Amino acid sequence: MEGFTVAYHRHFIYVCSLMSKQTDDFFKNVISHAKEYGFVFPSSEIYDGLSAVYDYGQLGVELKNNLKAYWWKAMIQLHENIVGIDASIFMHPSIWKASGHVDGFNDPMIDNKDSKKRYRADQLIEDKIARYETDGKTDKAQQLQVDLDAALNADDLPRLKSIIEEHNIVCPISGTRNWTEVRQFNLMFSTQMGASAEGADTVYLRPETAQGIFVNFLNVQKSGRMKIPFGIAQIGKAFRNEVIARQFIMRMREFEQMELQFFVRPGTELEWYEKWKEVRLKWHLAIGGSPTKYRYHDHVKLAHYANAAVDIEYQFPFGFKEVEGIHSRTDFDLSQHQKYSGKKLQYFDPEINQNYVPYVVETSIGLDRLFLTVFCNSFEEQDLSTEGKQDSRSVLHFHPTLAPVKAAVLPLTKKDGLPDKAREILNRLKMDYNVHYDEKDSIGKRYRRQDAIGTPFCITVDYQSLEDDTVTLRHRDSMEQERVAASELEKIIGELVSWKNLLTAL
Ligand code: GAP
Repeated sequence: MEGFTVAYHRHFIYVCSLMSKQTDDFFKNVISHAKEYGFVFPSSEIYDGLSAVYDYGQLGVELKNNLKAYWWKAMIQLHENIVGIDASIFMHPSIWKASGHVDGFNDPMIDNKDSKKRYRADQLIEDKIARYETDGKTDKAQQLQVDLDAALNADDLPRLKSIIEEHNIVCPISGTRNWTEVRQFNLMFSTQMGASAEGADTVYLRPETAQGIFVNFLNVQKSGRMKIPFGIAQIGKAFRNEVIARQFIMRMREFEQMELQFFVRPGTELEWYEKWKEVRLKWHLAIGGSPTKYRYHDHVKLAHYANAAVDIEYQFPFGFKEVEGIHSRTDFDLSQHQKYSGKKLQYFDPEINQNYVPYVVETSIGLDRLFLTVFCNSFEEQDLSTEGKQDSRSVLHFHPTLAPVKAAVLPLTKKDGLPDKAREILNRLKMDYNVHYDEKDSIGKRYRRQDAIGTPFCITVDYQSLEDDTVTLRHRDSMEQERVAASELEKIIGELVSWKNLLTAL
């Protein structure tokens, strides 16, 4: 356990040491804001944390659920030919042999003999590239990237070690260059299934949700009378024994994926791949981030089963990093499961009168990385100072449809019947979405609290409300207020937070 707890703190310091002061401050503020307001907590914090494992708090879970709903609606609700499933985390062990994970789901690792810490060799080199870039040594950075890609492409582990030595890469903990050889390290977690150790089977915690879809391909196709092209989508937990804890919820040991496997006729897969690339980027942009913060990054090294692969990357404070992968996986997975299970996994295509193993285009997004994207995109420390008066606020500019709390109802004072009137409004609105009630502190302080958790609308009930049944509606981003009829609130806010606003943009 010692390794886990200490590693948590050390890595936070290490990650921060790689960033420039400005981005470093921004990212530190994102992490502390997420904790302070109940979005993300380190797991097992009272025991000093568990490295690369996090818990979502009361507002984090709401945001996460909304992000899942956005993906699910965009995939399943908007597509007649896509359906969802929820497969188990435990699966037959042979599945991971067939998929190639038992033999090939490895990372190149290197240990520092002085600190006894283990690192991913490629990530140590990537960090060096980032440092060269920060220092303006662009040529050096580019050459190192070329060398890294070549070594990874060739699975050349000794070359990775020599690159580390040539560039004087030191252990962030011990500061020494006393490295072991680079070795492959399997990322799957295993455990025993069965009551007794004897006769118990080794099972794995799934490292991706995709295989649960492949092994259910025929079940869904037959029971749902699906015709190719069609897709099966799934949201669920995945587990990887990542050796390095990095960048908050960016690289976790337990995380969530939202994956689509889209089954197509062989020969049409690259057309579908291009289409899904476009569709997925549009989905990201609809949330409201700047298009300049997103880019495609083609895979230099294709997995043996893929004939095309690209990442959608987002510009995090620590650089462009993968949020989603789009992969043309050929017929590899279904063919392997056919071979290992001895069961046919074929489709009869009535249009061409042929049986075949379908080809697959996959879109795979990490929910936690998406969460971090949305958080980084939305977080602002706004200077509101005017001449002679210092003022500021922390605000989360979430898209109203995704915001954890849609509206806050605030009686101006705690007396004279204002709380009753406010609660009456709250009770109506809470039938449709999450609404907060707050009567403590000055109205200004209460607005700031709601800004900090990204609530798009504040409804203030004042003395005029008792006379003419109107309230003020305050908009989070502009901070403008308008007077509206209380009876109209359900309609007004309902329209502003409707899923339609996001889904029609797709
Ligand atoms: N089925 C394909 C697959 O799993 P991947 O590129 O290994 O592909 C897909 O993972 C997505 O899952 C990534 O784009 C990333 O968003 C997310 N992901 C992968 N490893 C992760 C980790 N350790 N922590 C958080 N998210 C992770």
